[in-house]
Amino acid sequence: MRASTGRGHGKLILAGEHAVVYGYPALATAIDRGVRVQLDPGPTTCPPALERVIASVLPEGGFTVSVTSTLPAGRGLGSSAALAVALVRAAAAARLEALSPHEEWQRVFSIEEHFHGTPSGIDQAVSARGGLIRYRRGPPPQITPLPSPDLRFVVLDSGTSGETSVMVRSVAAQHPSNEPTLRAIGELVPRAEAALTDPAKLGPLLTHNHHLLRRLGVSTPALDELVQLALDAGAYGAKLSGAGGGGVVLALVDEPDPVLRAAERAGVASFVCRPVPPDAEVP
Ligand code: PMV
Repeated sequence: MRASTGRGHGKLILAGEHAVVYGYPALATAIDRGVRVQLDPGPTTCPPALERVIASVLPEGGFTVSVTSTLPAGRGLGSSAALAVALVRAAAAARLEALSPHEEWQRVFSIEEHFHGTPSGIDQAVSARGGLIRYRRGPPPQITPLPSPDLRFVVLDSGTSGETSVMVRSVAAQHPSNEPTLRAIGELVPRAEAALTDPAKLGPLLTHNHHLLRRLGVSTPALDELVQLALDAGAYGAKLSGAGGGGVVLALVDEPDPVLRAAERAGVASFVCRPVPPDAEVP
């Protein structure tokens, strides 16, 4: 066994969250933030949140687990999937084990199930692969790589976390009466895909996606206010990203400064983020 490192990308869901659980397509992109896991032979120590998953993943022998993340946790930015990908990759590297994509998928999926119940797999697909993908849940999952668009987002943090499994269950509790809203989200995704190179067309579709998510009951007053704040500051469009109930809003912008300044005036944490191609280093 030897010291090793693994990395996983953070992500933004551009369109289609929640509907993706019901078999509709969704678009997600890796971003210029992520998680890095370092394993060093030595006495086993790890962050408390990892203790329950660690035994199934870590190589035999003692390991000190260090996690470095540029992703706020629990905000819909894919921090748990990025952590799972980074951990599985670091553990495989420590064993000098070459995992097939399928083996890696299974191991990461079992960690994601532990965190989230029954995930669609979109977070881990984009975290492991990087770049922009169209995703349809399986089995087997359909992961279609798309060219990484030259888009700029401001991410606005509501300051609270949404629990993915709770939000997914709340949508399930309304099913099938909410099927028309899920279908409307699913139908919006190919239109968003066709508009990826045209922010002026994509923006209103993102905002429409937010309104449909609101109709599903996964938005909050704070998220709705952040969407409005971004639109008032000149964003092309804005939506919650991820499971909702808290977490972040993404705002598609030409110039980030007006949205960043409006966020600062409102006391809202925000940062600029860009889609990154598959071969990008995880910072
Ligand atoms: O865990 P989050 O906040 O990135 O949400 C994942 C997206 C959902 O569609 C809400 C759940 C899923 O498993 O696809």
